[in-house]
Parts: sequence; structure tokens; C-alpha cells
Amino acid sequence: MGIFSQKNHLNEHMLPDVIPGHVAIIMDGNGRWAKRRGLPRTAGHSKGVKTFEDVVEMCFNAGVKTVTVYAFSTENWKRPDSEVKYILNLLNEYLDICIEKCLKKGIRMRIIGDRSVFPPEIAEKMNDSEQKTAHLNYNLNVAVNYGSRAEICTAVNALISEGKNEISETDISSKLYTTPVGDPDLIIRTGGELRLSNFLMWQAAYSEFYFTDTLWPDFGKKDLYKAFSKFAKTHRRFGGL
Ligand code: FPP
Repeated sequence: MGIFSQKNHLNEHMLPDVIPGHVAIIMDGNGRWAKRRGLPRTAGHSKGVKTFEDVVEMCFNAGVKTVTVYAFSTENWKRPDSEVKYILNLLNEYLDICIEKCLKKGIRMRIIGDRSVFPPEIAEKMNDSEQKTAHLNYNLNVAVNYGSRAEICTAVNALISEGKNEISETDISSKLYTTPVGDPDLIIRTGGELRLSNFLMWQAAYSEFYFTDTLWPDFGKKDLYKAFSKFAKTHRRFGGL
């Protein structure tokens, strides 16, 4: 039975037949989630990490092959020092435990973004997590100090330094952080804003989008399956008919 014959009884508790291969997520709304509870914004980020781990697991269990999450953007440095430190500390703590978790679950970890700004011990943990999981089949890309414009400029500069004087779309696509895993099929943004915020702008050319008002710490299985159901009902034409 195809997805179209099934659509009448698809609901958010059921997985559709068609699952996106690559899901990218803008995890927005941690601060508001905390504020609504009278908690400091940092409490929202802590809960956000738990949601991140749960959602990544749900994606892979559902048949997704690659998950890319936006954990820290090049613009997030503008936040108060204490909040930046808190998020980077969460990342550091996650790096401490992620190798073991990834090895157990068959996940290949990649950190995407400009890691040159991080202290050597964090950069080393990033390299270590990538090397030790490099043989595994599911892909988890965590974007830190990531910005899409910077990524495209880095790609173009690499091509120039290789001596190219005419640059094609294929050339740029071959130099992105996400080159090994390809473009996202579905981009989910929580927290009610309808924008990309400098995330995967090149790669999103033909992605489907799912926006929800749900704040990231509240995002659960029901929301994820709703996003998958909407994706399954969309007929992707890639510009054709
Ligand atoms: C957006 O909420 C979230 C962030 C800026 C980044 C923090 C992300 C996490 C803590 C989850 C994953 C972390 C790791 C270590 C993989 P916001 O602060 O912009 O919320 P607001 O829009 O309500 O203010």
C-alpha cells in the first residue's frame, strides 16, 4: 500500500511509509521554555540537550540515516558571556559521553562549523569523537560555531586556493561541511520563527520545511511523527513537473 492510499488514517502517532533520509533541526525555544517556568534560560538549554538526545534516537529508530542539528551558531557569541559559557560547557560535557553512546548505537559523529576558535582540549575531543566513530553507519552532525555564509565563503576560498578561476555549483557542493552526507530532505524548526537563521542555506535549496510553535524542550515523538507525516504527503518535484 502506497503513502497516498494510507494518508486518511495517518496520524501523528504513526510512522508513514516514507521517511526522510536526512533531517536537519533548528532547536529553538530553550530560553522561552525556561522563562515560562520562572527558570533561568540556562535551564532551558539543559533540558534542550535531553530533548536533543531523545529526538536523535527517535529519528534513527524511525529509519532516518542522517541527523544534523544546529547547536551553536556564529551569531550565538553575541549572547551574554554566562549563557555562551553555559552552552559551550554543555557541549563539552556531551563530547565526554558521546563516543560511548555513538559506538553503542552505531552513530558516526561529525562536528560541523569552524572549530578553530575552540580551546585545544575541546577541539581534540571533537576530532576524537569523529575518528572513533568513523566506521559507523548512522550520521549525526552537530553544528557548532556554524554559519552558512561562512561555510560557503570557506568553500569558495578553498576552490580559489586550488587554482580554480571558474566555480560551478558542483564545486561548491563538494567543499561543504555536509558534503559527505548530502543535503537535508526535511528541515524542522521549533519555537515559532519562520526563518533559516544562516543554517544550511546552500543545502536547503530543495528541502521540505516543517515549522512548529512547540518550544524545543517540549518537542517529542508526536511532533516528530507529525513532521514526518507532512513530509510523506509532500510530492517533491525538484523544480520539475
Ligand atoms: C535555541 O534556544 C538554542 C540554542 C541557541 C542552542 C542550545 C542548544 C542546545 C542546548 C541543545 C543541543 C546541545 C548540544 C550540546 C548538542 P534559544 O536560546 O534561542 O531560545 P529562545 O528563542 O526561546 O530564546
